[in-house]
Amino acid sequence: MTIEKMMEFLNQPNVHIGDPDHVKHVIEQLIQYGPDKLQIVADFDRTLTKYIHKGHVCATCHNVLEEGSLPEFYKEEARTLRDTYFPIETNPKLSIEEKIPKMIEWWTKSHGLLETCEISRDSIQHCVSSSTAKLRDGCSWFFDELKKYEVPVLIFSAGIGDIIEEVIKQQSTMHDNMHIVSNYMKFNEEGKMTGFQQAIIHIYNKNENAIHDSDYFQNIEHRTSMILMGDSLGDLHMADGAEVDHKLKIGFLNSRVEESLELYKKKYDIVLVEDETLDIPNNLLRSIL
Ligand code: C5P
Repeated sequence: MTIEKMMEFLNQPNVHIGDPDHVKHVIEQLIQYGPDKLQIVADFDRTLTKYIHKGHVCATCHNVLEEGSLPEFYKEEARTLRDTYFPIETNPKLSIEEKIPKMIEWWTKSHGLLETCEISRDSIQHCVSSSTAKLRDGCSWFFDELKKYEVPVLIFSAGIGDIIEEVIKQQSTMHDNMHIVSNYMKFNEEGKMTGFQQAIIHIYNKNENAIHDSDYFQNIEHRTSMILMGDSLGDLHMADGAEVDHKLKIGFLNSRVEESLELYKKKYDIVLVEDETLDIPNNLLRSIL
């Protein structure tokens, strides 16, 4: 697809672009440098997965466990926590600084709660298969095509790594060019969950832990083009450790659209509203690969 065709394709009612000239320029660069220079950094929940499917809100990684066979007390407590903290997460009137302590509270409480549930490693497969978590339409094509061209894909998530791997395994393919950084569960010898392996990754500290202490970005520093995909403003920092020349930021704005659109348009290059597919990133890849 030529750049003109691509820009035409972006001219859709659910696609919002603050600075079309900038977007055109970056896409031209991504096309020019091609797959050998490309890397992908993507959030998981509500970025690679759907927010809504057939009119119902889909599960995040944490929701998968609530929908599963965990005790009633857990489900109730987890719902109460979400009712308290999700509106804070998505409130465009609060600053990130105001949100951070609340998000730490949410993750700390919900992970503490999970630790009391004696989740067995074996139950995860069933929790995922019976859950409402769904990869976006076109996600398998996205993964397969990036594997075909050996483009590294970093999935950086404040969800739960064990669930992410299982969702991808069941609904698509986990290729060896894909790397997940997330909260991974710790299990004892009996296969019961006892906690998490590292410090909490919540939506607003994706810039400071795990991946940035590793040599992930250094090892692929010759890949100077990047497509970054996220759904929260915290996701914009997922690649702070990478020095790239051309970065296209695609944001999925799933809820509180009217209040948040202007802010998202300032922060993301392309904002996709109420789009449960990966059609836009996939069309871009068709031009670049
Ligand atoms: O993959 P991502 O970084 O987007 O995952 C974090 C998401 O998980 C958040 O957007 C948050 O709404 C959700 N979450 C949840 N239950 C928790 C903690 C986070 O559904 N206990």
